[in-house]
Amino acid sequence: MTLDSQHWTSLKTHQQRLKNTTLRDLFSENPDRFGQFSCSLDDLTIDFSKEKVDAEALAALVEFAKFADIEASRQKMFSGQHVNFTEDRAVLHTALRGQPEDQFVADGTPLSEMISEVLERMCSFAEGVRSGDIKSATGVKFTDVINIGIGGSDLGPAMVTRALSPYRDGGPNLHFVSNVDGAHLSDTIANLDPKTTLVLIASKTFTTAETIANAKAARSWLRDAMDNKGANQHMAALSTNLEGTVEFGIPAERVFGFWDWVGGRYSVWSAIGLPIAIAIGAGNFKAFLAGARSMDQHFQSAPLEKNLPVLLALIGIWRRNILGYPTVALISYDQRLERFAAYVQQLDMESNGKQTDSNGNRVAIQTGPIIWGEPGTNAQHSFFQLVHQGTDVIPVDFILGAKSGSSLTDQHELLQANCLAQSQALAFGKTQDEVAAEMKADGQSDDEIKRLSPHRTFPGDRPSTTILHRQLDPFTLGRLIALYEHKIFVQGVIWGVNSFDQWGVELGKQLAKALVPVVRGEPSENLDSSTSGLINRINELG
Ligand code: F6P
Repeated sequence: MTLDSQHWTSLKTHQQRLKNTTLRDLFSENPDRFGQFSCSLDDLTIDFSKEKVDAEALAALVEFAKFADIEASRQKMFSGQHVNFTEDRAVLHTALRGQPEDQFVADGTPLSEMISEVLERMCSFAEGVRSGDIKSATGVKFTDVINIGIGGSDLGPAMVTRALSPYRDGGPNLHFVSNVDGAHLSDTIANLDPKTTLVLIASKTFTTAETIANAKAARSWLRDAMDNKGANQHMAALSTNLEGTVEFGIPAERVFGFWDWVGGRYSVWSAIGLPIAIAIGAGNFKAFLAGARSMDQHFQSAPLEKNLPVLLALIGIWRRNILGYPTVALISYDQRLERFAAYVQQLDMESNGKQTDSNGNRVAIQTGPIIWGEPGTNAQHSFFQLVHQGTDVIPVDFILGAKSGSSLTDQHELLQANCLAQSQALAFGKTQDEVAAEMKADGQSDDEIKRLSPHRTFPGDRPSTTILHRQLDPFTLGRLIALYEHKIFVQGVIWGVNSFDQWGVELGKQLAKALVPVVRGEPSENLDSSTSGLINRINELG
């Protein structure tokens, strides 16, 4: 969509109209802002009343979504058309959480049976490992599981197993190794016994250099402790590349496959989810899938103006393209969601960090924002200073549960109060007059008030959206992830980019491959002076 299209112009007009209206004004003009600017699906509520929109601006955003034909694009994705047009592939991670009646088809092949065949094998393997029916080569229960994978083959399982740790219920300890830095694997195995450790090698392509290097090192660790046959019993692979896994020495019955219509960062629902099923059990893993499916159904059926992923996407477009904010802070008031921002960071930035549209032209507008964050309340004591008083406006997505995930319920009340207070402070701030009145009431001198009040003033008028749910359980987490997946999809459609490829990571891989021999001492004539200078210095210091 070009910048001069009448819909962008109309949104800009609303922004100009609201330019001198603050969030304070909007709230005092409309006492029912929450009622008007929030939307729920069962216990999941999105409150976007603290975003700088009014009813007319919101209506224009929804019109805009209609004009962008979100519904047609959505239909193309769910019906298996090749919406990943640069790789000529369908995009059907939604099928992995579907039921037979959803009738997903890719390239003429019905998917339900093959998906459920792998899912049931995964579930029975996971339950076998949990119960000890599937034993180590020495005939004992596996105490530990290491997942070796990177990007989408790591972040999803790592985030979800951490988030759902209360559901572990006697399952083995899970460890995640992603970085090719040998310290990651060696620190992880330092306190583990290879004779009771299962190693899962998770790689969609089974060619990712980091994962293969770590997998080979882990295989040697196992082989040093037992014979090759025994070591094989301690490995499993999660991949679309069945040949690669067999070549690596993984027995066929220990390979859990998936398909090229599942993008790496969308693969947590596939065999890549095996560590989750081992951690929390098959029933909970299925509840996680069911949560995502409930969001898929909502996304497909709710009218755009009541459609949570669509609304979240439109608020994001308003923030990014109309108000011009380049980043979004994702702050979960839930310690167990400590990896959620990192997970959504890959999901969003690898999907929509693009500058070329479907016609091969440079997009005329800003696309995917920078996503970052840490859990609250920790974030309040590190970077929130800048979020409140810095010169840049940083929109925030807050995530909060109504019920505590621990028995320390008093602390949960503190957590909730803090989350709500942050969005209040951002929206309404504190004027210099209010600061002065407060200082006066405190008995401070006029000189002190004059000197300090500018520093203690909060500009406010800073946007945030709060996503509230009942309690972090497998169903809720599945639904929350699917919410962000579909938000990203909608934004990709509006920006006209392919949200499902990732060519931007290829150049670095190619250059690294060429530099490995040079770092190992082979001469190279065509290096730029910075790279060769650094390699010389590495050799001097190393
Ligand atoms: O390099 C980027 C990427 O392809 C991600 O998209 C993917 O999640 C990750 O690498 C890991 O890839 P694989 O699962 O094939 O090892």
